[in-house]
Amino acid sequence: PLARSLSMTSLNGLPQWEDEDLPVEDLLLFEISWEVTNKVGGIYTVIQTKAKTTADEWGENYFLIGPYFEQNVKTQVEFCEPPNPAIKKAMDTMKSQGCQAFFGRWLIEGSPYVLLFDIGSAAWNLDKWKGEFWEVSNIGIPFHDREANDAVIFGSLTAWFLKEVHIIAHFHEWQAGVGLILSRSQKLPVATIFTTHATLLGRYLCAASIDFYNNLDQFDIDKEAGERQIYHRYCMERASVHCAHVFTTVSQITATEAEHMLKKSPDVVTPNGLNIKKFSAMHEFQNLHSMYKARIQEFIRGHFYGHLDFNLDKTLFFFIAGRYEFSNKGADMFLEALSRLNFLLRVHKTDVTVVVFFIMPAKTNNFNVETLKGQAVRKQLWDTAQSVKEKFGRKLYNALLKGEIPDLNKILDRDDITIMKRAIFSTQRHSLPPVTTHNMIDDSNDPILNTIRRIGLFNNRTDRVKVILHPEFLSSTSPLLPLDYEEFVRGCHLGVFPSYYEPWGYTPAECTVMGIPSVTTNLSGFGCFMQEHVADPAAYGIYIVDRRFRSPDESCNQLTQFLYGFCQQNRRQRIIQRNRTERLSDLLDWRYLGRYYMHARHLALSRAFPDKFEMEPSAPPKTEGFRFPRPSSVPPSPSASQHSSPHHSEAEDEDEDERYDEDEEAERDRQNIKSPFTLGALPQGKKKQHGEYRN
Ligand code: UDP
Ligand code: G6P
Ligand code: GLC
Repeated sequence: PLARSLSMTSLNGLPQWEDEDLPVEDLLLFEISWEVTNKVGGIYTVIQTKAKTTADEWGENYFLIGPYFEQNVKTQVEFCEPPNPAIKKAMDTMKSQGCQAFFGRWLIEGSPYVLLFDIGSAAWNLDKWKGEFWEVSNIGIPFHDREANDAVIFGSLTAWFLKEVHIIAHFHEWQAGVGLILSRSQKLPVATIFTTHATLLGRYLCAASIDFYNNLDQFDIDKEAGERQIYHRYCMERASVHCAHVFTTVSQITATEAEHMLKKSPDVVTPNGLNIKKFSAMHEFQNLHSMYKARIQEFIRGHFYGHLDFNLDKTLFFFIAGRYEFSNKGADMFLEALSRLNFLLRVHKTDVTVVVFFIMPAKTNNFNVETLKGQAVRKQLWDTAQSVKEKFGRKLYNALLKGEIPDLNKILDRDDITIMKRAIFSTQRHSLPPVTTHNMIDDSNDPILNTIRRIGLFNNRTDRVKVILHPEFLSSTSPLLPLDYEEFVRGCHLGVFPSYYEPWGYTPAECTVMGIPSVTTNLSGFGCFMQEHVADPAAYGIYIVDRRFRSPDESCNQLTQFLYGFCQQNRRQRIIQRNRTERLSDLLDWRYLGRYYMHARHLALSRAFPDKFEMEPSAPPKTEGFRFPRPSSVPPSPSASQHSSPHHSEAEDEDEDERYDEDEEAERDRQNIKSPFTLGALPQGKKKQHGEYRN
């Protein structure tokens, strides 16, 4: 019997699963997704961050399957021979029939094996495979839908491959679903799991600004899918869900959505985690904030050259990032709130300036000239300052050698002054600092730019809120803002993600583990998860906008209040809040959340092979039960905390010592949190709760 043991060690009170006796032995686990080694959005993050925990559990028996793209492979994959003869044989069979497959290690933490199919090399089978897929599912794929056609090729290759091995196959999202449908119709000996990270219809209906959540049970879903020309995709998704032994979604809110949009409730909710690296020094993440903030400030010096009449030390950096779905991601509400915030900051004559970045990829034709010029001007001023400094230094040195104090008014000559004047002249500009860094292909129809035009946030001197649209994902090799996304997030003060449609929402979760506060909503999987687990989320730097029970205007006002309250905090309060935010990261660790994936796999095995794997009748592990209490010494939310916060200090710079006060608070809270978590969290007798396997 493969008995399982649950060992309860605790990290900040959260129970960990360790030392599992695993029912894997000769079993293989395959996880299949279009985003394996291929970054499109958050699904890539799920797979990439979860790899380590899954590889720890399954070792050499864990394989990821994805599409082959040369560009991705070049930078992320090291080829090797498959260790498993069955896999090698299956690949050889496919190759002998002209379908290219590549095998190697994905160079990420956990370095899992990956098997990548070259879709192009197998495309000549498309008609045949579409026919076969039609035979088993009656789903017809139109020839012009490239993505859906690729999904058929990918799925057929996957099912062909799976024929050869005895396994669990975990498929993510509709693009991978064809492989699942075919495996089931061919009755392959495979235990299948399907995870959806969104429903196609949900995403489309929300993007069309329909009152989605109040009408969930009202939609004629076949008709809606047909009208949006996604009927075939929706069928692929719905068939995958119904064919799978186990169906999972990433959050409770998507579970409810699936119930209506796919006519099936999930068997398990599998919330998304992250791979948390703890710094050994407690303040390391604060130091990183400071370091990367300085890099962003440098960029700002260039971008706003000639208009730097605001104090960079009192400038806050806000940002929104993710796929460019204007209203689904709440960029519409964010802009509206920024316009209100600008008004509030102006009428209250605050000395705070807010610079807001929109990091959302759109079609562009490279950086624009004005933006590049900004950085060039900054560089030139820097060089001028360096050369004058050099000359000044040499003269000063010579004077000191002679035992003289030089006449400081004369130490720089006319030429030096001329050079400096010329440099200053070069900073004159006749236009406002640009609101976008790139030439947009569809400038006149771009929803962010059009809203900026409508609300008039043009980076005028009088504006306290400045905006910069960077319509490309960030990269450390960018000549403009050479930071990767993580570094950029660390350097900012607040991530703002007021999404309307967000099954999970990695962006605020990533902020949390880096100790950067963020705004999310009660329509996002992450927001609801935090609401469930944290007694006073705002005190911990998680601001949850109510987009469910309020009108859009009320939600926008609430968002504005959050932003305005954040601007009223002093440096010390921000530091304390960041410490608290970072403390929540254990809640988002795969070492804790990975258990839901385990449970899904065990359930799939017991359903696919009931005579080999038996699962005790038991409740699935629940996501409820843990709750971070209010921080002990602290006001409920920072905006309310202005005058009641202990050791309140007005001085911006007196922050260094204050951090250590916060350490005491942290320690106290840790003590408090421990007991409810370890004693009350999971009911006793966990073994049963998580199932027991025999074979
Ligand atoms: N992201 C990135 N580079 C950027 C901006 C965002 O890699 O410049 C990533 C971010 O780290 C996150 C993902 O894009 O993991 C977005 O995932 P999310 O779940 O928030 O939304 P999705 O795009 O899947 O709807
Ligand atoms: C971190 C650093 C401090 C710095 C502070 C700035 O905490 O360790 O040295 O003063 O960041 O915080 P702010 O919120 O003003 O960017
Ligand atoms: C989807 C959702 C996003 C989620 C991600 C990972 O792309 O839009 O909310 O975080 O999948 O599950």
